[in-house]
Amino acid sequence: MHWLELEQSYQPKTHAPGHRRVRKKLSEIEDQHIIPTYQKFPIKVVKGSGALLWDDQDREYIDLSGGYGVAIIGHANPFVARALSDQSRKLVTCHGSLYNDAREAYLSELVKVLPKGLDHVYFCNSGAEANEAAIKFARKKTGRKEIVAFTGSYHGKTYGALSATWNQKYRKPFEPLLEGVRFSPFGNLEKADQSISSETAAIIVEPIQGESGIHLPPENFLPHLRDLADSTGSVLIFDEVQSGFGRTGSMWACENWNVAPDILTASKGIAGGVPFGFTAVRADISSSLKPGEQTSTFGGNALSCAAALAALSFLQDEHLLEKARENGSYFIQKLESIVHARHHGLVREVRGKGLMIAVELKIPVKDVINLGFKHNLILLYAGLNILRFLPPLVITRDQVDKVVSSLDSILTSIESQANGANLENRLQAEA
Ligand SMILES: Cc1ncc(COP(=O)(O)O)c(C=O)c1O
Repeated sequence: MHWLELEQSYQPKTHAPGHRRVRKKLSEIEDQHIIPTYQKFPIKVVKGSGALLWDDQDREYIDLSGGYGVAIIGHANPFVARALSDQSRKLVTCHGSLYNDAREAYLSELVKVLPKGLDHVYFCNSGAEANEAAIKFARKKTGRKEIVAFTGSYHGKTYGALSATWNQKYRKPFEPLLEGVRFSPFGNLEKADQSISSETAAIIVEPIQGESGIHLPPENFLPHLRDLADSTGSVLIFDEVQSGFGRTGSMWACENWNVAPDILTASKGIAGGVPFGFTAVRADISSSLKPGEQTSTFGGNALSCAAALAALSFLQDEHLLEKARENGSYFIQKLESIVHARHHGLVREVRGKGLMIAVELKIPVKDVINLGFKHNLILLYAGLNILRFLPPLVITRDQVDKVVSSLDSILTSIESQANGANLENRLQAEA
């Protein structure tokens, strides 16, 4: 049979929406067979478009989680779909040991938007992998062992990335981790001076910390790390896996402070949701590496590169950086206004940059997330009491208005159920 006939005859196995028996069985299958390392929520997502998701009952939700910040250019982006479809008919896989036209096309556009001087790239498949490579490259370049990371950091869950990740809950059960990693308080210049020395191979930092609750550094922190890296000869790594690719209204969050790293890592939304990641470095770091020292079977495959090129073009053509800046400020301002008017008893702070936003609550965030589902919102948490917003950058003002008004109702209903003292007690009890 010819490929085209095969394609036309192909009928994907679908299950009718709302078919009770199938739905129940499918969720039982996940519960029975998926290793339980994910926190699960009671909703089965079957499709998406832009900032919207639908469940298997055809119920529509506004997605404030964006697949943990992946859906930057929107769910089921038609330009990425087209690129995937076209490329998949031509060539899906192509190992890095062979040259490839899709990789070349993406690379030539990518280097134009990378911070100045970072024009050598290693392709991989996830954020953790991009950071693994960054740590290896820094050690190879400097011949040193020590890594300085920061309190509150999150760099992924593979061994190297995990070793530079702060949260004990992720680390403890898997020790021993990488030797030579120390943590310095995020944002503290004096402590950074004490931690970073001529023994330091790498300083690894998220320009804006994501997983620990959207923490922006003090104005002079990143420039100071740049100076310290220069004076000690260590390699400055910016992990832009969550903050990069337009999320904060700049292509890379570090541009907000006018600082460029020696190595930048990215992943999440760079290929419109297709697994992809990269580690971008300076030429002298690249030339310290030899063939075989870092490779990945899928790294830089043709399909991901085609998707990434479409995603980058969409980000630029649709002026999503500008939208992230404008709609981000609008979102923060609307959130602040309801907090100011009615919810200062429940909310400690609203903060963020572009569409990387947090609402820090004085109560556990769990109830808010669960009520969110009832209000057709998919909300995301960071820690016990922080609501984190990482929506697609294509979210509209109307959608932002709906989100803020629903959140207003949710907080009002929580307030009406319990007085402030009880809430404080619950927060303390659950802390
Ligand atoms: C800043 C940062 N670095 C690294 C990672 C790990 O990425 P992945 O889950 O793709 O390995 C994440 C994931 O959330 C992240 O936010």
